[in-house]
Amino acid sequence: MEPSGMIPVTLTVNGRDYPLLVPRTERLLWTLRERLGLTGAKCGCGTNDCGACRVIVDGVARNSCVLLTRNMEGKSIETIEGLSDGLTLHPIQQAFIDAGAVQCGFCTPGMIMSAKALLDSNPDPTEEEVREAIKPNLCRCTGYVKIVEAVLLAARRMREADGENSAHAVAATGGVSA
Ligand code: FES
Ligand code: FES
Repeated sequence: MEPSGMIPVTLTVNGRDYPLLVPRTERLLWTLRERLGLTGAKCGCGTNDCGACRVIVDGVARNSCVLLTRNMEGKSIETIEGLSDGLTLHPIQQAFIDAGAVQCGFCTPGMIMSAKALLDSNPDPTEEEVREAIKPNLCRCTGYVKIVEAVLLAARRMREADGENSAHAVAATGGVSA
């Protein structure tokens, strides 16, 4: 029997299942940070206004401070912790560093998750599309220009890497596609 007011939910975060008991009103941001120790998503406002808590849910960037954890059962949740491959940063993370898009860094995980959701669905966005994708994310430090440059840089590098991988695949099959 569960403690009163607690309900069972299994969260799937970065490909791993976490069976949990949570209060009915608990929000995803608190579950990630306080129960799972995934503190990359930040609490800037807690009221759906800043994007610092952004994660990707079933492919869509969402503010986790307003999502009820109990409604996340069966959904695929991605957080900033799932992006790097060991010590190798994701191309978006690397581009933020290379473009000088990180200052205090508080907004950065949320920005990167907005960028990832965009590039997963649109690998070749225009500057306008990048600005639209990061509109829910507030940054008090950078003035946004370098953030937009970082997302466009990441997009270019990811397209180039995809092109190289395709060329290698064609070469490996002698030019015969499956
Ligand atoms: S902490 Fe969620 S939008 Fe600000
Ligand atoms: S880098 Fe400081 S809020 Fe964006």
